[in-house]
Amino acid sequence: MVHEANRFSTGILKFDKLLEGGFPESSSVLLNGTPGIGKSIFCQQFLYHGVKNNEKCIFLTFDVRPETILNSMARFGWETKDKIVFVDCFSYRIGAQSSSRYAITGLSDLNQLSMIFEDVLGDVGKGRKRIVVDSLSTLLLYSDPELTLKFLKDFIAAATSQKALILMTIEEGIHDEKTMAILNYMTEGLIEMKFDMDKRFLRIMKMRDTATSRTWSEFDITKKGIELV
Ligand SMILES: Nc1ncnc2c1ncn2[C@@H]1O[C@H](COP(=O)(O)OP(=O)(O)OP(=O)(O)O)[C@@H](O)[C@H]1O
Ligand SMILES: [Mg+2]
Repeated sequence: MVHEANRFSTGILKFDKLLEGGFPESSSVLLNGTPGIGKSIFCQQFLYHGVKNNEKCIFLTFDVRPETILNSMARFGWETKDKIVFVDCFSYRIGAQSSSRYAITGLSDLNQLSMIFEDVLGDVGKGRKRIVVDSLSTLLLYSDPELTLKFLKDFIAAATSQKALILMTIEEGIHDEKTMAILNYMTEGLIEMKFDMDKRFLRIMKMRDTATSRTWSEFDITKKGIELV
């Protein structure tokens, strides 16, 4: 298993090699791709690997309830033993009681999310941490885009001032060019995923402290999760 001190390994062996051991510490990474390509599974695999490494793991979920994520992870055999702290940004939308102690009641006021995230960082404590935002697209669609981008800048700064890695998913093709350009400018890494002739591919478009070739690598989703072919 590849494990470098200042890197966050993804648990996807061949991908970690492309990343020179994993994502560089204290950075934020965008995961951009079409629906159904495997972004959420990638995030879950990444957090499971963090649980295995005894790192702190935080999951901001915008599209499904925490239970749904845990069920999906269990299908791959990724047992998290309650080690993932969920910030539930979804249950309020369906009027459901959240199973997480960290839950928002709406997205019209991003201050609430800021405060809850600050609480989570405080409660989780210092040390290496993995933070997943799935999906950033929903956050952008449900709140004022300009305010959201400003919120994100502070959010990324707060999280990466500690030894953290933030992984955020984006739906390909639904945001305007300016939004994508700002997001790209605010983050240190960009991974793209796409289908081509029914096959799945990913590539590293940019990554701080990493030599990247931008070549597409084919991957499969197997019962063990994402694997590069
Ligand atoms: N055990 C499995 N074996 C093979 N493929 C699977 C398995 N579980 C899920 N998949 C595939 O993974 C796809 C879903 O991946 P995922 O939810 O990560 O996509 P996504 O990029 O997050 O999509 P969205 O943008 O809709 O959220 C499914 O469409 C299915 O094809
Ligand atoms: Mg998804």
